Amino acid sequence: MSNPKPAEFSPASSRISPTASPRLAALAEAVLIGGAKARSSLRRRLDGELVAKAQRDYQTEIDIAVEQIIVDEVNRSFPSYAIKGEEAVGNRNAKDGVPVIYIDPIDGTTNFAWGIPHFGMTISIVEGAEIVAGVVYDAMLDELFSAELGGGSYLNGERIGCVSSKGIEDVLVGAGLPIPGQLKAVPEDVYFNALKRLMATTAGVRRLGSAALSIAYVACGRLDGFFEDGLSMHDYGASALLVHEAGGVVSAFNGGPVTSNGDILAGNRVLHPWLVEGFQA
Ligand code: IPD
Repeated sequence: MSNPKPAEFSPASSRISPTASPRLAALAEAVLIGGAKARSSLRRRLDGELVAKAQRDYQTEIDIAVEQIIVDEVNRSFPSYAIKGEEAVGNRNAKDGVPVIYIDPIDGTTNFAWGIPHFGMTISIVEGAEIVAGVVYDAMLDELFSAELGGGSYLNGERIGCVSSKGIEDVLVGAGLPIPGQLKAVPEDVYFNALKRLMATTAGVRRLGSAALSIAYVACGRLDGFFEDGLSMHDYGASALLVHEAGGVVSAFNGGPVTSNGDILAGNRVLHPWLVEGFQA
């Protein structure tokens, strides 16, 4: 079954690095096609239309439909890769050492389900222990973020980079507001103290509702930093590569390597150490 292409928008190939590999081009193509489906389906969904995968963790029929579209696309381009989709529509295991494709068909499902036009679809490829390619697409603004290891970060074909913050009072920082049970790396008081510190000292704190897009915003300088606990590779994989390739830093809350807790702290190089300090209780 072939999926409709969003004819009104410019092609994926003109929106990524001119030196992008065919595999990044294939991810970009897939995410644009999936995004068209989500864009045309946005509206407030009422109680009976929402599935709760866990308490306050929702799924709509469009999460499934978009993941199916992306799975169909990546199956064509990467028949031997493993697939791990957040909704498990077409998951496929593969032999050790085979690259794994992570798909989050709608990152920001709660926004989507309430009809709020801020959510993204994201795909990344992990090879060995490294994220080697990734895309994040804001279907409502038609903004395609893409990055490849060693190849830089791009937004709709333009190279992007983290900004270098000035004083702490002039930085804008994104953060997740955790639901019960989401905090894994730190106790509640440590997390909320880190948030309070931002509220007391910075230009402001933003809870945008899509971790993938918020971290991508760090890569292009719309945010100076971002943190959230309990994220998964589906949510942050592509965006973490975007920040890395944009000259920023992504770590765990303690400044060390990201762990399976999914505590993600992203920032430009100037701000990152100051954000880490906020978690030293
Ligand atoms: C969610 C979004 C949200 C974050 C949640 C994530 P999902 O992803 O990234 O911003 O606060 O922790 O689970 O479930 O919409 O793909």
